[in-house]
Amino acid sequence: MTTTQPRPTAASFSVDDWRSGYRSQPNEYSYWVTDIEGTIPTELEGTLFRNGPGLLDIHGHPVKHPFDGDGLVCSIALRNGQAYFRNRFVRTAAYLAEQQAQKPLYRGVFGTQKPGGPLANAFDLKLKNIANTHIVYWADKLLALWEAAAPHRLDPTTLDTLGLDYLNGLISPGGSFTAHPRIDPGHHGDPRLVGFSVKTGLSSTITLYELDADGNALSQHSHTIPGFAFIHDFAITPNYAIFFQNPVSFGPLPFLLGLKGAAECISFDPKQPTKILVVPRNGDPMQVIDTDPCFVFHHANAFEQDGRVVIDSVCYDSFPSLDGSSDFLEVDFDRIPAGQLWRFTLDLTAGTATVNTLVSRCVEFPTLHPDAMGRPYRHLFIGTAHGAAGNAPLQALLKLDTHTGDTQIWSAAPRGFMGEPLFVPRPQATELDDGWVLVLMYNAERQCSDLVILAGQAIAAGPIARLKLPHHVPYGLHGSFVPHYFGPEARTTAALS
Ligand code: FE2
Repeated sequence: MTTTQPRPTAASFSVDDWRSGYRSQPNEYSYWVTDIEGTIPTELEGTLFRNGPGLLDIHGHPVKHPFDGDGLVCSIALRNGQAYFRNRFVRTAAYLAEQQAQKPLYRGVFGTQKPGGPLANAFDLKLKNIANTHIVYWADKLLALWEAAAPHRLDPTTLDTLGLDYLNGLISPGGSFTAHPRIDPGHHGDPRLVGFSVKTGLSSTITLYELDADGNALSQHSHTIPGFAFIHDFAITPNYAIFFQNPVSFGPLPFLLGLKGAAECISFDPKQPTKILVVPRNGDPMQVIDTDPCFVFHHANAFEQDGRVVIDSVCYDSFPSLDGSSDFLEVDFDRIPAGQLWRFTLDLTAGTATVNTLVSRCVEFPTLHPDAMGRPYRHLFIGTAHGAAGNAPLQALLKLDTHTGDTQIWSAAPRGFMGEPLFVPRPQATELDDGWVLVLMYNAERQCSDLVILAGQAIAAGPIARLKLPHHVPYGLHGSFVPHYFGPEARTTAALS
């Protein structure tokens, strides 16, 4: 096993730099990117869509947590070595109403309150669909996702909001759809979008959906488990959907009384196991396998091999719980757990799980070749901290060879802060790491954002292109690359000047 490490520095980041990426971006832009270092590969054609909280305040009223910020979708359309940037807020009903009122009208799940204290917030259980978590393109629809409500459909070229979308009747008004659907590249034939919804309380019901390439439902089935469930992501193999029921409980009283947001009422119980829910995609009954207590937001991948099911996940020792009394900008990174990449190997016959650590340094936001989804794979790309130990913001990109354990790292420290990387295959490539990794990152030196493009087979060499945006995009969440160009016609000579 070999490791390519970034150069050591005395301090990987300054807190002020990190905080400066959490500023509202109320403006909406459309332009050709002209400040480019290096060269955008001409083979790289398509559109990067990315979602995340765009407002960290509503007309001067700060959100309590970035996850409560209204969804701001960016697109960067790439063709012939040129790039066109656009960003638009998702025009949710709540966004429009609050912008008109110029103040918060809704409580945020992560603790944002309406002005007026507990009396103004108590027993107001309305949810604000903020459409800020992910954006996917399926069956000719671009969908902005938030896991507790229905998707919003956007125009992929203009990013105009077209309205709520119920997935061809799959979900009903008032229903929800995960922010983390998975695209099965076609293990059983044609590609499928696999998604789920969760209804939780004293018991929880998970409904698994599969959509064909036209967006029509192929199957749906529900499974009920005891207890509260906080399930943000899942993993798929050709035959299974795998969920982790984190060992958390929900004490709703402070939420009901208007004292806290719902997510601030979740607490981790280290005495309880994490339950791995293995749901057969054919609708058969699920199997539950206990493992050591841990908390998972995101899974990297899963696959079936030698009669076992393997899941690679970003695991935390405990829920990185929200301290309701503090400002998220004052977070002490040393006091919250760091995510590590763990591998769970399930013996479905024995009903057991074995666990080993694949990456022990702080990681989040995994990505891999789309054709490797759900099958044995070798190469994983993931955001990581600059330092090998401890918890810190993501400032580097790590490539892991899961066969050898070798890693490559490119670090943007001390003044660069990573977003979610996305792997884009090179057309007609035969190697599953032959392509590019795209990251929309925050450059504190310029107080603006950069789109960096790295070669998948040479991560440690650093970016082959850096597109310097003339403004910042606040730290975001998830996105997708669509191999279709959704930009305007090619730049003219006049536009170049
Ligand atoms: Fe997520």
